[in-house]
Amino acid sequence: MGTLNNRKVAVIGCGFVGAASAFAIMESGLFSEMVLIDMNKDKAEGEALDISHGLPFSKPMQIYAGDYKDISDAAVIVVTAGAGQKPGETRLDLVKKNVSIFKSIIPQISEVNKDAIMLIVANPVDILTYTAWKLSGYPENRVFGSGTTLDTARLKYLLGQHLDVDSRSVHAFIVGEHGDSEIAVWSSANVSGIPINRFCEMRGHFHHEEAMQRIAEDVKNSAYEIINKKGATYYGIAMSVRRILEAIIRDEKTILPISSIQHDNHGVSGIAFSMPAIVGKNGVEATVPISLSTEEEKALKESASTLQKVIDDVF
Ligand SMILES: NC(=O)c1ccc[n+]([C@@H]2O[C@H](COP(=O)([O-])OP(=O)(O)OC[C@H]3O[C@@H](n4cnc5c(N)ncnc54)[C@H](O)[C@@H]3O)[C@@H](O)[C@H]2O)c1
Repeated sequence: MGTLNNRKVAVIGCGFVGAASAFAIMESGLFSEMVLIDMNKDKAEGEALDISHGLPFSKPMQIYAGDYKDISDAAVIVVTAGAGQKPGETRLDLVKKNVSIFKSIIPQISEVNKDAIMLIVANPVDILTYTAWKLSGYPENRVFGSGTTLDTARLKYLLGQHLDVDSRSVHAFIVGEHGDSEIAVWSSANVSGIPINRFCEMRGHFHHEEAMQRIAEDVKNSAYEIINKKGATYYGIAMSVRRILEAIIRDEKTILPISSIQHDNHGVSGIAFSMPAIVGKNGVEATVPISLSTEEEKALKESASTLQKVIDDVF
């Protein structure tokens, strides 16, 4: 296995999420080569052509439909292949189908490339991150999932709307499972250092409990609502993928709530779920065990045990 090309990325799975992510990656200007792989070769070729036609308005790069042999020197491999939720399905309902897809994909990746960073996006992302880690032989820091990066973006967006403030000035995390048992960490949420409830009052909102419940539920139900209306979600996740890749390639050491294997994080070990982590050129450099209220900690343990049960079932 040769040296990696830090300007090369691969996207496995070119459905809604893979194609939107590839488009966002092209626009980012972070890479000079992108390989698209899908079991439907026509789909990968069509996306490669379509996205390439935007290059005269972006920055030069090679974008092509390829095979696993083409990714041996890719620095980052994004895995989006897998069935999506149908209306009414939860993410955990996808487990059997997508674990079996991973059993075919992951060994083909690690056969040609053992040194990349693997970013898992397909759902259920926490279970598939664990699966990819087990099947790939990659070290824990180099295989992680997008986790609750998207849910956290949804939380910041909704809080930004609620408070009429730039969502980038909102500091708050969703942690735990990327799914129904996820937790909004209100105890440390703030807007530019001002505790969230105080900022709400500054903006004329006083019904904190009610607003927190409504916003957390809206975040949790975002995917269901979008899937009911348009069949799939992909732009928000595409921007999340782009942001995570940027943190890796630019060695930013940005703190992002990605999903990685945990070690005694609030008492949780041996499964993958999301907690804020420092992300840079080595992947996950450290997790940041933010403080939680007693209630949040209890909910986190429940979220962990939901995931542990699925893992016990599958492995
Ligand atoms: N992590 C997140 O926040 C997030 C957000 C949205 C969607 N997702 C997940 O991303 C996944 C993809 O969603 P989508 O809407 O793009 O689905 P999609 O059905 O549009 O695309 C899936 C693609 O994977 C390909 N594929 C299937 N098996 C393959 C294999 N063995 N090798 C290569 N390619 C294969 C299919 O041909 C298809 O093009 C789903 O699991 C979905 O739940 C995750």
